[in-house]
Amino acid sequence: MMIEEKRQKTGENIISVVSILALILLSACGSPSSETVRADKWQSFSGDKRIEHRVDSVLKLMTLEEKVGQMTQFSANWSVTGPVMSDDFQSYLEKGLIGSIFNATSIDGIRRMQKIAVEETRLGIPILFGQDVIHGYKTIFPIPLGEACSWDLEMMRRTAEIAAIEAASDGINWTFAPMVDIGRDARWGRVMEGAGEDPYLGSKVAEARVIGFQGGRGAKSLNSLTTLLACGKHLAAYGAAESGRDYNPAELSEHTLRNVYLPPYKAAIDAGVGTMMASFNEINGVPATANHWLLTEILRNEWGFTGFVVSDYTGINELVPHGVAKDEKHAAELAVNAGVDMDMTGATYIKYLPKLVKEGKVSEKSIDNAVRSILEIKFLLGLFDDPYRYLDEERAKENTMTPEFMRTARKAVASSVVLLKNDNQILPISKESGKTVALIGPLMNDSINLNGEWAGLGDRNKSVPIFRGLTEKYKGSSVNLIYAEGSSITETTAGKIAEAVSAARRADIIIAAMGEDFNWSGEAAVRTDIRLPEPQHELLKALKGTGKPIVLITLSGRPLDLSWEDENMDALLQAWFPGTQGGYGIADVIAGDYNPSGRLVISFPRNIGQIPIYYNQKNTGRPVDLNNETVDYKSGYLDTSITPLYPFGYGLSYTTFGIDHAKIDKNVLKTKGDKITVTAHVRNTGSTDGETVVQLYTRQLVASVTRPVKELKGFQKIALKAGESKQVTFELTSDDLAFYGIDMQKKTEPGNMKLWVAQHAADNSNEIDFSIE
Ligand code: BGC
Repeated sequence: MMIEEKRQKTGENIISVVSILALILLSACGSPSSETVRADKWQSFSGDKRIEHRVDSVLKLMTLEEKVGQMTQFSANWSVTGPVMSDDFQSYLEKGLIGSIFNATSIDGIRRMQKIAVEETRLGIPILFGQDVIHGYKTIFPIPLGEACSWDLEMMRRTAEIAAIEAASDGINWTFAPMVDIGRDARWGRVMEGAGEDPYLGSKVAEARVIGFQGGRGAKSLNSLTTLLACGKHLAAYGAAESGRDYNPAELSEHTLRNVYLPPYKAAIDAGVGTMMASFNEINGVPATANHWLLTEILRNEWGFTGFVVSDYTGINELVPHGVAKDEKHAAELAVNAGVDMDMTGATYIKYLPKLVKEGKVSEKSIDNAVRSILEIKFLLGLFDDPYRYLDEERAKENTMTPEFMRTARKAVASSVVLLKNDNQILPISKESGKTVALIGPLMNDSINLNGEWAGLGDRNKSVPIFRGLTEKYKGSSVNLIYAEGSSITETTAGKIAEAVSAARRADIIIAAMGEDFNWSGEAAVRTDIRLPEPQHELLKALKGTGKPIVLITLSGRPLDLSWEDENMDALLQAWFPGTQGGYGIADVIAGDYNPSGRLVISFPRNIGQIPIYYNQKNTGRPVDLNNETVDYKSGYLDTSITPLYPFGYGLSYTTFGIDHAKIDKNVLKTKGDKITVTAHVRNTGSTDGETVVQLYTRQLVASVTRPVKELKGFQKIALKAGESKQVTFELTSDDLAFYGIDMQKKTEPGNMKLWVAQHAADNSNEIDFSIE
């Protein structure tokens, strides 16, 4: 017998009494006006009538309090990212008043809690277990910002899939990922968690990661034992925080919101994401958590989202300090009426929603619709059929850190690394080179920092230090390695520097691994100085004094200001936080076993004063001439260029590539239903096989609203043998060129256009004119 049928029998009497009571109360208070209703009509996520029927058969057994319990999530008190608001966790669990628990990180713990929910409560509704599985669960992949630099969507899909396999095998059903916030501000520590500054690339990555976690586009794949329910976050514009300060307001026009910040959330929804998270920040005066326009009008009515919305951690309670709710009860009212279906850890729903319904401030219909969406997901995950189905120690063992996962992680590291500079082809250092190499720096023999922030259950002691990667790589070869730490991340001494300098003097080449502590990025980790910490800089200056060539590997969760390093180092390798296989993947690049193919997804500033800096900026009425950057009443700086140190899309390889013969098949495109085909030849002009990312940019010169000076519209990562050339083909449709104009409608406008088939955003070669009519 199905669980819900069984419950129906036992719960029948209670239910009829409760619903009658609720009806009486509602009619006494008067129904809330339609504006306060979350969604008039419930739309199922799966569109499966059988499941809808099962959902309703449970819903009708539930008391109002039990319904509100389903809309409540608590943290199991392990690692929390904020204050835990309720100490009544256990009693809520025992009364069947919890819908979801997160951070319950062990099969045993999950089994214990699930058993209480299913076997010891009146209705026995299973709990949904969540966790922040962001860039791996136990096998940790490079931080998402780094991984996006691979521009390899299939790889990103696969790493999300592996993360899901590991986590689901450990009893987790739901991940709060992917984070798809556009990040244009390197001060903001959470840039590490997204895919950078571009809405087009961000949308593609969002899609790949959702499909990776959920196992496909449809609701059906959620039933697999190796997939996770995904959560697109943080809706919306969390990355637009003023001054880069976490949780700060996003003050931005609807124009920028729609054209730049919203597309990746929409892409996550189009890829079938089952849940969305409301962001902490306000947008133009209204916190997202209380924002009906955002969470209902745009998310549900305009985009057709049919999953459920969870608040961020105590995001509902925070409506009080935000200053839009007079107390937590009022906060609960605002949030539920805006469209937040589940309260993450704040305990506001469980405490106040029943009263609010009774007072007529919240409709029971909107509660029912929220609960339906939550129950539906539990059905899709198979939890009603077998609440223990994800709990199998044997499967967990088999599905954790397998050799194949390790190989994928190693490849992910190598392809995320971005080679920013390589004078005199100092890299790679081949095994036959016979060189003595001095390995120096605080992050050279470090494993603790490698996983970066949001690293799931990744064992920080198990990550492979760069030192180990290089030692194993060059073992038995003619390359001789010597090591001196030189400094910690934040401190050094004259003695340590002298030791490093002495090692450097004995070497032909220096490789220094430097950068940030892993917890200098991530949540609430904002920096106003993004240069290397002074002790590391001191060490680099001393090494420079030896006159030996220096390769600097930087590990960081954000773009750093590398202006000094760009001038003074011979090679720069941006390695982000690379995860479990960090040392191996980086050693593959250093030794030339992997030819770097990473390209930046976020601009590197010349100094912090340029931030926010991004390639798809507006021209202004007084644009700076980049060939002659005089500042006379132009939109420039007195003391630096307006260009970044390294632009979006930029990265070198051990070979070089050329693009030529760019052509389009026609010069005029209609505003609707038309397309042009763009072709170009890409050639590997060097002597090493390699991969490059061919990037298609456009610009609309005249429109009803100003348009960015460049916009990415397509890319292809292609492999070319030394000397080989290939034709690349892009199709550009009228829809690809649509944008939100003055009327906030998305459409394609007539106008003169340019396009570029380029190697990065500042590459103006292969320019072609065309027009839209
Ligand atoms: C973060 C979310 C995260 C949640 C749960 C919050 O502080 O903003 O991204 O999913 O905590 O850990």
